[in-house]
Amino acid sequence: MEPSPIIAPSILAADFAHLGDEVRAIEGAADWVHVDVMDNHFVPNLTIGLPVVQSLRKATVIPFDVHLMISDPERWAPGYAEAGAYNVTFHAEACEDPVKLAKALRAAGSRAGLAIDRDTPVEPYLELLPYLDTLLIMTIKAGFGGQRFMPEMLEKVRAVRRRVSCMGLQVRVEVDGGIAADTIEQAAEAGADAFVAGTAVYGAADPAEAVRKLRALAERATAGTP
Ligand code: DX5
Ligand code: ZN
Repeated sequence: MEPSPIIAPSILAADFAHLGDEVRAIEGAADWVHVDVMDNHFVPNLTIGLPVVQSLRKATVIPFDVHLMISDPERWAPGYAEAGAYNVTFHAEACEDPVKLAKALRAAGSRAGLAIDRDTPVEPYLELLPYLDTLLIMTIKAGFGGQRFMPEMLEKVRAVRRRVSCMGLQVRVEVDGGIAADTIEQAAEAGADAFVAGTAVYGAADPAEAVRKLRALAERATAGTP
């Protein structure tokens, strides 16, 4: 059984010259480490790709939550599963057949996640939930860290949570973008149970302590709800 809530610090806000140390700094505190892969095509920003993920995989025991902000995920996503990622999330906007790719990811050994960007409605994707392990709702426009959390995106989180509950599924409802001490509670109340946080963790003097604080807030926000 996985812990709940899941706290997944994003290394996008970490020091890229010391990624191994940065990830080890949250070992024991965080549940997953969130790895943002950007291709300067699907989003106007460029980060890291498979070789870095392969190297980093050997540097830590924390499960990898890979967030692919790339075009043509059908071509690239299974490689991340084969590299040992625990969860691989691709974008709905970039994928013609999400169910087919989700099945390919599971066959390649990871869990399958679908991400919904800021301007994309979630309703058309709710029927795909049985094929997914994670549904990631962007609470910003994908592409950059350090943006302001958009509370209006929580309507999507509520819609996903309602459907997950009513179908009795185990799908994680993940939020990404602007999650911090002043926003995590409202996201948890809306039904999110996995929280990505970049700036709020790696911008803090003590990243592990920041993770513990976020977890306590998320737990408090949902205490007493089934
Ligand atoms: C942005 C990435 C996020 C980013 C979040 O597109 O998907 O994971 O790292 O950064 P913060 O937590 O700073 O908003
Ligand atoms: Zn992300």
